Amino acid sequence: MALMHSLQKSAASSARFAFRSRFQRTTLPLLASRLASTISPKLNDPSLFKTDVCYVNGEWVKAASGKTFEVRDPATGKLIGTCPEFDAKDTENAIAAAGEAFKSFRTKTGRERSKLLRKWYDLNGKPFADAKGEVSYAATFFEWFSEEAPRIYGETVPSTIPGNRIVTLKQPVGVCGLITPWNFPAAMITRKIGPALAAGCTTVCKAPGETPFTSLALAELAHRAGIPKGVVNVITAHHNTPEVGETLTTHPTVQKVSFTGSTGVGKLLMKQASSTLKILSMELGGNAPFIVFDDADVDAAVAGAITSKFRSSGQTCVCANRIYVQKGIYDEFAEKFAEKVKGFKVGHGFDEGVTHGPLIHDRAVSKAEDHVRDAERKGGKVVVGGHKIADLGPSFYQPTVITGMTKDMAIASEETFGPVAGLFPFETEQEVIDLANAADVGLAGYFFSRDLERINRVAETLEVGMVGVNTGLISDAASPFGGVKQSGFGREGSRYGIDEYQHIKTITYGGMGKPLQS
Ligand code: SIN
Repeated sequence: MALMHSLQKSAASSARFAFRSRFQRTTLPLLASRLASTISPKLNDPSLFKTDVCYVNGEWVKAASGKTFEVRDPATGKLIGTCPEFDAKDTENAIAAAGEAFKSFRTKTGRERSKLLRKWYDLNGKPFADAKGEVSYAATFFEWFSEEAPRIYGETVPSTIPGNRIVTLKQPVGVCGLITPWNFPAAMITRKIGPALAAGCTTVCKAPGETPFTSLALAELAHRAGIPKGVVNVITAHHNTPEVGETLTTHPTVQKVSFTGSTGVGKLLMKQASSTLKILSMELGGNAPFIVFDDADVDAAVAGAITSKFRSSGQTCVCANRIYVQKGIYDEFAEKFAEKVKGFKVGHGFDEGVTHGPLIHDRAVSKAEDHVRDAERKGGKVVVGGHKIADLGPSFYQPTVITGMTKDMAIASEETFGPVAGLFPFETEQEVIDLANAADVGLAGYFFSRDLERINRVAETLEVGMVGVNTGLISDAASPFGGVKQSGFGREGSRYGIDEYQHIKTITYGGMGKPLQS
């Protein structure tokens, strides 16, 4: 996703994005710069917009080969800028810098690391009205982990062996390779770097080829925050992404890899990482069920489904993908839901009144189109949208609602990652639980109900890592984020996020507890 796209996505979602009111004081000159770089008149801080350079060992460097790749705005196809095409050798230099920096960074106290993270958070500046949702969200991970850093506790453990005393320490794992996706170009990086630095690790972050400028702007802010050289390294590649990924997952200096992206790529990285037995965190694809029971508040369920399904035009891994509605309220829900979707305005994110921007590229549009045509062929009825919006550009697709969905349709088993909402009717709780759990992934799941017993039962039975009950928005720096099954493992954010970047070291003291000899 190009820089512009992320802004369109943010702009599109900001009106509905619950973070808005909660994070008023954050966001950024970064964002202003991102805007300014693509809309020429408003360049608040041009030095945040880095082209042709990556951030390695506290310096801005080019790829040794001199090669670059182009980053284009998916809305217009226009060139935004170029970025270095790093290769394995360039990546190794960044790893070496992180390895060297680890020697001293690990000795800083939690409070010192906290202050650095806090400074980095503070540099994120003020809100930009139309695109602050994601960037505010991103910044909160620095705030959150700046508060965790001074509170890393070990334990004393009662030993079973007389005279022994056991103490545990939490220690940073070392150099971490962080590989992040295009759909949240700021938040997915901060959700990894925040806990890594809080724990005392150093990092090499591979920025997404589609949206590298946000990561580079974050690196510039890290520099201004006084993060020591080598602690944060941000590198870019597009065509060389597999080579850079392989270097990060096989290099002996790298102790841990955290990846957010598709299940397919996650499996490949895991295989590569097995050669050196790296610690892994994998935040992979989902296929979220969104269930509305007859006893739900229908208006609240419609609002929740809109938020969950159409956030970032359907391009988040926690977006509702299969919307199951119980028969007693199916027609009412479908009508109200379709009405809301008809009110969306699709366009370029900076244009007045636009609620939804483009998809990442034309392949994403083709996937949405395939899912819609497949549903139609199998008896689904498109009640809103259902087509590309060629007049706007190759990356636009109409927000779409399909009724009469059945389990043989592609959407039932495949994540669309686009603005297509398929409404599946169901009769019983058991039936819908079986449908919801009939997936090999399990990231997020949502349901609406007002029956307390059912709420408890369904929340405990859904095979997912995160459940939204009577809400369509579950993302929060305070909340553990992660999946089960082939959606991966490890938790980001929350008080657990830092555990992913720490070892527990056990120290056993022998010969203790003997009586004092007089
Ligand atoms: C993702 O799509 O991977 C992350 C979504 C979120 O943090 O809400």
